Amino acid sequence: VIPRVVLAPLAGGPFTPELAAAVSNAGGLGFVAAGYLSAETLRERIRATRALTDRPIGVNLFVLHEQPVDEAAVAAYGERLAREGFELGEPHFDDDELAAKIQVVAEERVPVVSTTFGPPPTELVARVPEVWATVTTPEEARRALAAGARVLVLQGAEAGGHRGSWDDADGPDLPVRELVAQTRGLGVPLVAAGGLDHVPQGADAVQAGTAFLLCPEAGTSEPHRRALAEGRATAVTRAFTGRRARGLVNRFMTEHEDAPKAYPHVHHLTAPLRAAARAAGDPEALNLWAGAGAAPRAQPAADVVARLGA
Ligand SMILES: Cc1cc2nc3c(=O)[nH]c(=O)nc-3n(C[C@H](O)[C@H](O)[C@H](O)COP(=O)(O)O)c2cc1C
Repeated sequence: VIPRVVLAPLAGGPFTPELAAAVSNAGGLGFVAAGYLSAETLRERIRATRALTDRPIGVNLFVLHEQPVDEAAVAAYGERLAREGFELGEPHFDDDELAAKIQVVAEERVPVVSTTFGPPPTELVARVPEVWATVTTPEEARRALAAGARVLVLQGAEAGGHRGSWDDADGPDLPVRELVAQTRGLGVPLVAAGGLDHVPQGADAVQAGTAFLLCPEAGTSEPHRRALAEGRATAVTRAFTGRRARGLVNRFMTEHEDAPKAYPHVHHLTAPLRAAARAAGDPEALNLWAGAGAAPRAQPAADVVARLGA
């Protein structure tokens, strides 16, 4: 049985064990975001979350396969950012320690694991009781089920954060209600995600991210919280990471609309400048992931779970 309210995995800072545990304790399903952590830190985060709740929790894994990127375009973007005076890192591919993380979720007996950016790996399906797959098209949905997913997380165009699409195509992206309508006949539970503050018709649950970003339990940075409270518009950009993602509009985003398609290369390139902006409390050079139209409130996670599930 799927709880009606699922906490979106929130990699890159907003996830905390306190937030995931609070959601599970309130009758939702809290997710541990594995993205960008080492496998051993993931193990610590799972244990820290479990220390705060006896209820089920999930873990979300990035499934990244190396694709050819336009190296010249990445280098040119780096040169431009250097000219603009930004502190930069070394662009490169890494697979986010997928194999080691599958080992960790299996050893820690995590009951639910969701995947993002690619099909559920065979090794994961073999070792975890229930695999959920994030999909953005009916085609990805069919392929996810063929790979062994038991539940589909339908990520619509409105969603905050990275597009979970398997090919990072330029779009257009299907709105979440459209995606629900087009996958209803597949016979598996559907978890809908993207700018939602309720369970939409035809879906079994809502997976919400932005709605939880202002919770006291969240690790959302201070400039991100301030920008969210201002109620800015959102847009989709590759400027911060090289992969399409939705966030609140800020200066860095509007000044770098032609950033190349190269993930996670550009993520590594811009990591130092984003960290510097965060430390300086500057929301203009920081990725401010947020969904379209979501209006998060500064209230405890348990209250958000109650509101979304009502
Ligand atoms: C700050 C932030 C971080 C996110 N990190 C992840 C992640 O690590 N894995 C993932 O599958 N989705 C991630 N997402 C996307 C969510 O799973 C979900 O699709 C999205 O939050 C739904 O839209 P909403 O934010 O409007 O509720 C993230 C979203 C946000 C806002």
